[in-house]
Amino acid sequence: MRNTIRIIGLGLLFSFISCKEHAEDKDDDQTNQNTETMTIANDVHSFGKPNEVAIKHMHLDLAIDFKEEILQGSVRLDLENKTGSDKLHLDTKDLTIKKVTLDDGSETKYQIKDEVEHLGQEMIVDITPETKSVTIEYATSEEAEALQWLSPEQTSGGEYPFLFSQSQAILARSWIPCQDGPGVKFTYTAKMTTDPNLMVLMSAENGTEKNADGIYTFKMEQPVSSYLMALTAGDLEYRSTGRNSGVYAEPNMLEASAWEFADMQSMIDSAEELYGPYQWGQYDVVVLPPSFPFGGMENPRLTFATPTIIAGDRSLVSLIAHELAHSWSGNLVTNETWNDFWLNEGFTVYFEQRIMEKIYGQDYADMETKLGMGGLKETIADLTAKGKKEDTHLYLNLEGRNPDDGLTDVAYEKGRFFLQTIEKAVGREKFDAFLKGYFTENAFKAMNTERFLEYLDEHLYQGDAALADQINADAWVYGPGLPDNAPDPHSSELDKVEAQVEAFVGGTAPADLDTAGWTTHHWLYFLRALPEALTSEQMAALDASFGFTDSGNSEILCDWFQHCIQNEYKEAYPKMEHFLTHVGRRKFLTPLYKRLVKTEDGTEWAKRVFELARPGYHFVSENTIQELLYPTDSNE
Ligand code: BES
Ligand code: ZN
Repeated sequence: MRNTIRIIGLGLLFSFISCKEHAEDKDDDQTNQNTETMTIANDVHSFGKPNEVAIKHMHLDLAIDFKEEILQGSVRLDLENKTGSDKLHLDTKDLTIKKVTLDDGSETKYQIKDEVEHLGQEMIVDITPETKSVTIEYATSEEAEALQWLSPEQTSGGEYPFLFSQSQAILARSWIPCQDGPGVKFTYTAKMTTDPNLMVLMSAENGTEKNADGIYTFKMEQPVSSYLMALTAGDLEYRSTGRNSGVYAEPNMLEASAWEFADMQSMIDSAEELYGPYQWGQYDVVVLPPSFPFGGMENPRLTFATPTIIAGDRSLVSLIAHELAHSWSGNLVTNETWNDFWLNEGFTVYFEQRIMEKIYGQDYADMETKLGMGGLKETIADLTAKGKKEDTHLYLNLEGRNPDDGLTDVAYEKGRFFLQTIEKAVGREKFDAFLKGYFTENAFKAMNTERFLEYLDEHLYQGDAALADQINADAWVYGPGLPDNAPDPHSSELDKVEAQVEAFVGGTAPADLDTAGWTTHHWLYFLRALPEALTSEQMAALDASFGFTDSGNSEILCDWFQHCIQNEYKEAYPKMEHFLTHVGRRKFLTPLYKRLVKTEDGTEWAKRVFELARPGYHFVSENTIQELLYPTDSNE
């Protein structure tokens, strides 16, 4: 049983004060390329006190031990002591700390505080005002929440084990003692040692070949936040996809992955045309085993991706555009705390859609936008019905909660539609110039909601009160649901789909519907527009005509299986069981388990499948599904 200790504090008050300080700092700090003189807003999800002592550089020296399923070695933290403090405050979770030394070689004292729910254990290290660095010898626990250790059977090749990390939002602390808040940025170097059959990669400069000695060194020269610390090791190979892009995958996935991501280089070029130079040198993607809990994760220089986007027809590559876009919105200009998460994701969805429009055209982008609005309206209705209206604001209050709980579609889609609203009000040309300036001026810094609104005022409204009124940013950022001026996206392609859904509802047999030339997006809209209640004859006829149960497209499967649960179409259950036990992507698991627990005998079926599947899920997916099937009051 997990405890229910809550973090109570003056977080909001502090964050208010530091926002003000921050705003004042801004003017004399415009050209600073790092966060050195900036005051960082109080972060309710971190014990770090970066306004006193901040990590500026990190050197990791770790052995990756597949037998024990732990990382062990040391981290050296190079510090900037801003206040002459004699304490360094760090975040840790389930780490075994062996020894801490200062740069003069002396061993120093430290304390590990009691565990606080969601946050882990604060570590306080005794330093002196002169201390330049501390070195911590430590090991991770087998339960390290960021890490997933896979047996050979859980990989595509089946021969070698695999390891990957997922640090966002606050899991970096489970594999590195650090200041684990997104407002703190540091550079890093690393040495990783492992089984010579494996290749090790990080969110840093990577090689393209295995090293015979199993020793890999890394360098990240641009400052990054801890949630972007990333590590993976496995039987990986590399293929270039262009001037500064490429893909890593297990050998038997490499060909298909490189084919699927063939447009990656033109995505980079399009993104640069829009918002300025790509600042990270190389852009690669590593295709991970199917238990990866997300679609993609924007680790700098090396996006981590689920293999479920390898659909064989390039139809799901907007995910790559999304993770690439984070190289500006998120990795360069970073949400200061998780309450500002929409600054990462809303900007990124908007940017992703602009890249997709440039490469695949207006129709494609319109379909994605319309699908996005559908999802957002559902999320808003759902959160409102659950009494969580405040989670439909862009600016969140996640104090005392696992940030993961509040990170919903709202940040992504409401964020995107807010930016679209601004674009519509000022025109694309002006908005693009504004965004380019925003990314350039704030590069390698953290941004919070309040300062973004000030920036908008200063650089876009520029005293035009009518324009500010028309956009009504406060309603978007601090208000619930969708404001009155929200766009109503239209897609002529999806109109055609709607007509076919109407025909089906009116009695036309699936085989007689006009679906010629439909892409994944048409099918997704079709599935989402179908009535909730379908007869078993209708389900069987749809399946016979369109082969949904046997689809190789994970997005289509996820939507189809929801109808199967709703209408107890048991013919699909063996395939659904296979899906749930082989794919660990939380976005797919959540709606399926959610629906299962609402049907008559679904809960039992779901619990049985979950027990089979859970050893293969990463902690973040396991935790979410566990709460769904066995709710505790802290998450209801
Ligand atoms: N940064 C997110 C993933 C994330 C968010 C991890 C919050 C942990 C906490 C990533 O960029 C993302 O948004 N991934 C999406 C795909 C995207 C196309 C919407 C996903 O994984 O589904
Ligand atoms: Zn994202």
